[in-house]
Amino acid sequence: MNKIELEILGKENVFNLIGAEWMLVTAGNKEKFNTMTASWGGLGWLWNKPVAFVFIRPERYTHEFIEQENRLTLSFYAPEYRKAMQLCGTKSGRDTDKVAATGLTPHILETGAITFAEARLTLDCRKLFKTSMQATEFIDKTILEKWYTDKPGGMLHDVYVVEIEQVYQ
Ligand SMILES: Cc1cc2nc3c(=O)[nH]c(=O)nc-3n(C[C@H](O)[C@H](O)[C@H](O)COP(=O)(O)O)c2cc1C
Repeated sequence: MNKIELEILGKENVFNLIGAEWMLVTAGNKEKFNTMTASWGGLGWLWNKPVAFVFIRPERYTHEFIEQENRLTLSFYAPEYRKAMQLCGTKSGRDTDKVAATGLTPHILETGAITFAEARLTLDCRKLFKTSMQATEFIDKTILEKWYTDKPGGMLHDVYVVEIEQVYQ
């Protein structure tokens, strides 16, 4: 895995990268980490820094790791890994060993953050900001009704803004 210039992101179609290709959000350390699939989020600029925005429901096991650590990685994969990503997005690390189930190979970055050797692109990110969505803040209430219920898996997202510090290919 090689460190590359941030500018490579300008060559990616970042709109499709997250929404269509999906990504793995991984947090933790070499002793214990967890990963999950995400297709909501964005890449851009804030506070003159290159950033990513991710939306993580508090009930996700990965959320615990994101809360504990300073860093997380976002990683992107070729189409052949779609099944692995499907698994990471439908099973919880609470009861499934996702590394064993997908065959992905954990890879520890310089910072101690975790990604997978199979990733075609990894962003090593540092947490800058977190906020929790509030029901009262929804201007279009139909979104609240559609996406947020009192059923398991329906909690309001936590929003994390993370700085993209290193990019690997
Ligand atoms: C395509 C896809 C996209 C997803 N995007 C998100 C997301 O952006 N935010 C989120 O909280 N959950 C998202 N999920 C759901 C989590 O990946 C899923 O609940 C996962 O099982 C959580 O695993 P964990 O409990 O091990 O953290 C997505 C699932 C799929 C299949």
